[in-house]
Amino acid sequence: MNYDYFFRPQLFKNYPANWEYLFNRKAPLVVEIGFGSGEYLEALARRNPDKNFVGFESSLTSVVKALRRLTRNKIENVRLSLADGRFSLRELFEDESVEKVIVNFPCPWSRKRHEDKRIVTPEFLRTLGAVLEENGTFELATDDLQYAERAREMVEKLDFLALEEFLINPDREIKTRYEIKWLKYGRKIYFVRIRKKYTIKIERILEGESDMPHRKIPKDDVEIEKLKTFKNQVFKERKKVFVVKEVFENSSGDYFVLKVIASDSDIQQHYFVDVCLKGENWMIKLDSSSIPFRTPSVKFSIDKIADLISK
Ligand SMILES: C[S@@+](CC[C@H](N)C(=O)[O-])C[C@H]1O[C@@H](n2cnc3c(N)ncnc32)[C@H](O)[C@@H]1O
Repeated sequence: MNYDYFFRPQLFKNYPANWEYLFNRKAPLVVEIGFGSGEYLEALARRNPDKNFVGFESSLTSVVKALRRLTRNKIENVRLSLADGRFSLRELFEDESVEKVIVNFPCPWSRKRHEDKRIVTPEFLRTLGAVLEENGTFELATDDLQYAERAREMVEKLDFLALEEFLINPDREIKTRYEIKWLKYGRKIYFVRIRKKYTIKIERILEGESDMPHRKIPKDDVEIEKLKTFKNQVFKERKKVFVVKEVFENSSGDYFVLKVIASDSDIQQHYFVDVCLKGENWMIKLDSSSIPFRTPSVKFSIDKIADLISK
């Protein structure tokens, strides 16, 4: 596999990302969210060698399949990431930097209680209002009429986006795996194209430089036993929140690993925090086996754990 096609935005030092550096050239950017096994992205990139394509997927299996496909076919103008596409689109791209965003056959999440899992939400449309170039487009293909109609209704309420097309069963030159499957079962396909009219201001949470959060406390200033009481506790400070799900300890009592879930409005991340004795100090830091985006809640978790065990 060619890992040059893979990138980990969680490790970047600065946000938004430097795409010119990642692709080794400057070219128009096209983003696909939820690329599945990557056949659409591959075909599009092959037909448009003058553009740079960025794909986001939340499934590891899909990322591996797509990486194999790109490697096998030597497609050089694509970069893939295992990351939430809604969050990444907002945090990794500057205003007016993306020519087109594509979402093909998103999971519908039809129930009200699952609506926060949907990709196309009012918040996502605001992100489009920032990151798309003026006249840039968003394309949505789905077999779920309700999803397509909801997208249309949301856009009709906004001045900065305009609905350009709402098609039923368009004959698309490139078809995705789900598209082929649904067409075979005789289901209808809905296609929505939205155009950006003007740029709006949005709030980003990672903007600027992002250091690795860590704390070092002299061992005599620490009450390490307190760590064990954190299990299942929720810690909150304004918009920042995290919960400690588990506290593991080694047999000599000088190495603890905490399983933590942190939430920042639209992103929930699972990771581990190490609390370990190094010489005369306790170190509190992110465990190397999990690499979350260093969001305000993730940084808060390191600081709060350090503060709470300090005497
Ligand atoms: C129904 S599949 C469609 C795959 C492909 N686009 C196709 O048409 O064949 C939806 C895909 O979106 C991915 N996905 C869902 N939410 C996502 C998110 N927030 N960010 C990135 N990928 C996401 C899922 O992992 C899944 O692979």
